[in-house]
Amino acid sequence: MKKAKKIFETALSEGRTFVLENEAKDIMKAYGIPIPAYSTAETADKAVQEAEKIGYPVVLKILSKDVLHKSDAGGVKLNLKNEEEVRNAFDEIMKNVKSYGEKEETEVDLSRGVFVTDFVEAGTEVIIGVTKDPQFGHALMFGLGGIFVEVLKDVTFRLIPLKEVDAREMVHEIKASKILQGVRGQPPRDIDALVDIMLSVSKMVSENPEINELDCNPTFVYEKGKGALVGDARILIENDGKKSKR
Ligand SMILES: Nc1ncnc2c1ncn2[C@@H]1O[C@H](COP(=O)(O)OP(=O)(O)OP(=O)(O)O)[C@@H](O)[C@H]1O
Ligand SMILES: [Mg+2]
Repeated sequence: MKKAKKIFETALSEGRTFVLENEAKDIMKAYGIPIPAYSTAETADKAVQEAEKIGYPVVLKILSKDVLHKSDAGGVKLNLKNEEEVRNAFDEIMKNVKSYGEKEETEVDLSRGVFVTDFVEAGTEVIIGVTKDPQFGHALMFGLGGIFVEVLKDVTFRLIPLKEVDAREMVHEIKASKILQGVRGQPPRDIDALVDIMLSVSKMVSENPEINELDCNPTFVYEKGKGALVGDARILIENDGKKSKR
């Protein structure tokens, strides 16, 4: 896909080892992956304009080649309900990220401003990830978000490219699978929508092997029939054989 190649080329020519969130989401959208409405804004005024187009509430996130973990830098503000909250969030993000840079003794490029996106319902949070093994190539990882991944390590892997039957098996073989299938009166989640995302990610990675690592974390899965949305997307790329900084 030309769009993806162009984004990766630009990132590499700027010496970056990851693509910005809007770029990652442009690529994913081109592969048919569902993403909440989004835009970018270099100034607080533009952030308000974009928020109004998207509709409140919105989320603002720092957009910088120097910030990979946005929350750690104080660069994410959720559930902003009006113009005043957007303006305050914009200023706070810039201030937080600047002082984060000073603490880390690196200068952080703030010129791109923020990523503005729809604040969506939480749904059931899952993680779809991709890693690259020097011997076996790309593998797709799947698990439920939060403690399920971080504490219980309840995840499963398959080599890419995935077939539909592989994706369905993955969804069913994690220990917490019942949460997706509906447990204790909870309606089942939209497993078809989740499987579609996994297959699209697999296709995207097969066609763009320069992807080193990828994270759709969180991906929100809603009630059966109501779909799923990728809330945050991170794509790390090869740069002169140099591994990406994490
Ligand atoms: N569009 C959204 N609507 C609702 N909640 C969101 C949205 N985007 C992000 N969030 C929430 O904010 C949290 C942090 O956002 P995000 O994942 O983009 O930041 P991050 O710094 O990349 O986090 P991490 O490095 O831990 O992955 C998410 O885990 C999610 O709970
Ligand atoms: Mg994230």
